[in-house]
Amino acid sequence: MKKLFVETYGCQMNVRDSEEVTGLLLERGYALTESQAEADVILFNTCAVREHAEHRVWSNVGALRQMKRERPELIIGVMGCMAKSQRETIFKRMPHVDFISGPAQLYEVPELIETIYEERKPMAAIQDKRRAEFQNISYHASGVSALVTVMEGCDKVCSYCVVPYTRGPEVSRPADEVIGEVERLAGQGYREVMLLGQNVNSYGRRWPSEPLGVRPSTGSGRTEPNESEKTGGSRMNFSNLLKRVNAVKGIERIRFITSHPWDAAEELFAAMRDLPRVCEHLHLPVQSGSDKVLERMRRGYTAQAYLEKLELLRELVPAVAVTTDVIVGFPGETEEDFESTVRLVEEAQFDSAFIFSYSPRPFAAASRWVDDVPQEVKGRRLQTLLKLQEGIARSKDETFTGQEVEVLVEEPGAGRTRTNRKVYFEAEGVKPGELVKVRVEGVRGHSLMGKVMPCLKTVGVRS
Ligand code: SAH
Ligand code: SF4
Ligand code: F3S
Repeated sequence: MKKLFVETYGCQMNVRDSEEVTGLLLERGYALTESQAEADVILFNTCAVREHAEHRVWSNVGALRQMKRERPELIIGVMGCMAKSQRETIFKRMPHVDFISGPAQLYEVPELIETIYEERKPMAAIQDKRRAEFQNISYHASGVSALVTVMEGCDKVCSYCVVPYTRGPEVSRPADEVIGEVERLAGQGYREVMLLGQNVNSYGRRWPSEPLGVRPSTGSGRTEPNESEKTGGSRMNFSNLLKRVNAVKGIERIRFITSHPWDAAEELFAAMRDLPRVCEHLHLPVQSGSDKVLERMRRGYTAQAYLEKLELLRELVPAVAVTTDVIVGFPGETEEDFESTVRLVEEAQFDSAFIFSYSPRPFAAASRWVDDVPQEVKGRRLQTLLKLQEGIARSKDETFTGQEVEVLVEEPGAGRTRTNRKVYFEAEGVKPGELVKVRVEGVRGHSLMGKVMPCLKTVGVRS
């Protein structure tokens, strides 16, 4: 039996893609291994979003040179976003790589491996085609929460970002297909689904059969549903999709990422308020608090507009946790611009934030501009924001001490709140998949610690 080792970088879309390829190979008789040394096939599913993400791939793929020399029959594949954006350089710098394949060529990977076994020559399965295939996958890494793709690609033009290039234009997955997969997952015992897309709030703007340019963004989250969408047909916008997922029996929690502040609007917030299974968590990347920087980033909103959205969201969904992404050191970012970001972070009071130092990315518009903020200034700004946000997150976490929270158990002794906080708890006999009430007794790092309230167990064991 051939053994497969898969290493995944980047976002949840990539995690799901890795699950998809793994499932296809398991169906062909492969077995998963945790050890590269005993693998027949080693796959790297790569990310190109920041320089740092790529460095790790270069060094980890590079480290296999010797192993490949000793075991020339080993197959090494580089898949995903970096495989697409660095296709010229990968074979050149890494001659021990057997194949590269972009995110749109996922379903061709098993064939490709077969062909390599037959012909033993390096291959590239990169063609610039649009990814519009969606398949139901048979392999999920966890038995409690499953990733479900609802759309591929991105139609935004954020000037720092490589994703529209690596993932191609936006295509939504027909709602009936999404619901079919969620129902199957519920039948297999999954309790939570995370709906995935680079910009889920523009769900429904373009379907696989439609040519590019049809139904472009109308802004502010208003994609008018057609008659069939309104009545729950196979086409609908994201809020309507949430309604349908909310109705699937057995799924207790619904999450989704990512939302773009331009497209996330009142209709979504109202759906979060009204649909009991949709968790009170919104990841809403702000990127900067300076209007000048936001404009050059081509984000389409001002700091004030962002804060107003946040206010409306918190009014409609008071318990909501809001998380964000911020980039420091974007080209031309002055001390004053940075101070605006500091003020926004203070004002917004995010539950947590990913803070990144800008790096130029191939194909992104900003990569043609001078990367003029010195490394040490980027570093200082990063540290300032990290420290500020650390304090905010801690005081937010502390508010849970003494409270009872609903936890979906993911592994023995650990689970998550609806607001996506990790909780460790003491309890005997609580199984993954159960929903329990936990009394929070304290905070450790970014996690809550507590005890399960035995009499308050809300839902039974999953099958
Ligand atoms: N579609 C999502 C995720 C994009 S990538 C979204 O729109 O938010 C995740 C994060 O990486 C972005 O939100 C941004 O903060 C960061 N990022 C993207 N390109 C970057 C770059 N060139 N340098 C630094 N951070 C970047
Ligand atoms: Fe990149 Fe912007 Fe698309 Fe997100 S919305 S993937 S940041 S281009
Ligand atoms: Fe990275 Fe591609 Fe995701 S660039 S963040 S793996 S879409």
